[in-house]
Amino acid sequence: RGRILHFFADPGEDSDPASWQYIEDGALLIDGGVVRDCGEWDKVLAALPQHTRHTARLIDHRGKLIVPGFVDTHVHYPQMRVLGSYGRQLLDWLNDYTFPAEASFADPAVAERTAKFFVDRLLAHGTTTASVYATVHAHSVDAFFSAAEAKRLRMLCGKVMMDRHCPDNLRDTADSSARDCSALIERWHGKGRLRYCVTPRFAITSTPAQLQVAGELYASRPDLHVQSHLSENLAEIAFVRELFPDSAHYLDVYDRFGLLGPRAIYGHGIHLSDAELARLAASQTTIAFCPTSNRFLGSGHFDYRRTAAAGVSVGLASDVGGGTSLSMLRTMGAGYEVSQMLQAPTPVMRSWYGATLGGAQALGLEGFIGNFAIGKEADFVVLDTQAIPELAFRVAHANALTEQLFALMVLGDERCVAATWVLGEPAYQAGAVA
Ligand code: GUN
Ligand code: FE
Repeated sequence: RGRILHFFADPGEDSDPASWQYIEDGALLIDGGVVRDCGEWDKVLAALPQHTRHTARLIDHRGKLIVPGFVDTHVHYPQMRVLGSYGRQLLDWLNDYTFPAEASFADPAVAERTAKFFVDRLLAHGTTTASVYATVHAHSVDAFFSAAEAKRLRMLCGKVMMDRHCPDNLRDTADSSARDCSALIERWHGKGRLRYCVTPRFAITSTPAQLQVAGELYASRPDLHVQSHLSENLAEIAFVRELFPDSAHYLDVYDRFGLLGPRAIYGHGIHLSDAELARLAASQTTIAFCPTSNRFLGSGHFDYRRTAAAGVSVGLASDVGGGTSLSMLRTMGAGYEVSQMLQAPTPVMRSWYGATLGGAQALGLEGFIGNFAIGKEADFVVLDTQAIPELAFRVAHANALTEQLFALMVLGDERCVAATWVLGEPAYQAGAVA
């Protein structure tokens, strides 16, 4: 029981009121880990089947806001140790900070320790699903999926494929990546709530032969996902043009190798042409908007409104460690500030959609998660606006719902996460000793 907010569709720039549901005194009825009912407390109670009247357990979150578990559509778990690294833009940041950090994952114990820490921290931030980059080492995927499986989370992950323009100790080959990925797919894809995501790092670090392998892997089994980076930084884009002179544009590099389509998501997409946006939309390929990362690495301002207007599905993402926080609240706040730089403030409801159902849709997981439709998996987060004094004070002076929700996303962070629930069971509780 609590205040409930969830979405049925993208509210768009006009904040279509039919796209969301808000219930001040709401009830979420959960059984067997899935949503059985969602609505007004009185009505859900009245509709309870007779035999469950006495066995149902009431969890009273009145005063707090219950939303679907946050979805982080692009994040690198091995980069937890480079969060907040000073003074570099993308290509130098990769060489000076990120590649050395990822090289330390040659030690499986480092991968296991980091994976457990990362999954615990995701839950503490209210994130229950993510599309996760591991490192080039196959065992880094095993470490992540094992940690996610232990918490029963719905997660995507893949081994980074990278066979050029990177340090020797992080380099695979087209053949070795084909073998490693096939074995990982065999081991993990479709196991419980886990799915494999084919993960060529980006066009610069894969030869055409390896991109070919990635495209063939994507087509090799139903429901495989793809993730990579696209059009993030001007120096990166110039290098891609040099490496692939025959491609019409950056997106075309991936297109030629069969790497666009449903369940394919690309990080950033800041500097895209109209032709690239049209091709993304036509192929149902999606974009992960990474506002804290784009600001931190000085990459540029992603135009959410333009991209969505072109018919491209957009999810929100932390992109840690280029991004500065795992908090999807902070990510929403940063996304709003970027939209202000472009003189096009994102509507409040669209931001909340982007961190929940929008992320699920961008990942092609909306059949399982993202809202409280009957039958969806019961992953949710309980948010408390009283946890931060300035936020509590601001909310006390906010009348409209959107004003309160806006304050929460621009002033709030993980301190506001009171509890995180996975498949109808508590997975994180603020203040509890781990
Ligand atoms: N492009 C290629 N690799 C990376 C990465 O690890 N982070 C970001 N932000 N961009 C990338
Ligand atoms: Fe990234």
